[in-house]
Amino acid sequence: MTRGGVLAAAICLVGLALGAKMTATPVHARHTAPVVTDRGAQLYRVTCLSCHGPRGDGHSLYPVPGMAAPALSHLDPRRWTKARIIEVVRAGSPPMPAFGSVLSGADILRLARYVRAMERH
Ligand code: HEC
Repeated sequence: MTRGGVLAAAICLVGLALGAKMTATPVHARHTAPVVTDRGAQLYRVTCLSCHGPRGDGHSLYPVPGMAAPALSHLDPRRWTKARIIEVVRAGSPPMPAFGSVLSGADILRLARYVRAMERH
């Protein structure tokens, strides 16, 4: 075997060893993000977070000019009653889309409660 061949074989062996080490890592050790069990929080993550931001502060993950979403974490509770939050989510408020035809009334209520809880953090 040439020198280059020996070197290539050695690199392959190291690669194999590293690969074996990586696959041997338990799955749970690689997924360390907290598991969200609250349904309101889950719904928020799936339907609202992209625009209103992970903390509800309006810092979108994918900012689009002209589509800036307001912060939900500091809504004035006197102006933004739960009923009004439900209405905005149900009917939308352009450019925010309406969710009345894709979410159940119970889920919209859970979201309104979740938004309410955000105001206190
Ligand atoms: C495509 C981006 C987008 C998504 C997704 C979205 N929103 Fe919005 N949201 C907006 C924008 C933009 C406004 C401001 C609308 C306006 O100016 O009337 C808004 C306004 C609001 C308001 C009124 C607050 C205010 O100060 O005007 C509430 C409450 C709200 N959104 C909650 C939600 C909830 C809950 C979800 C998830 C079901 C959601 N939004 C999903 C973009 C979005």
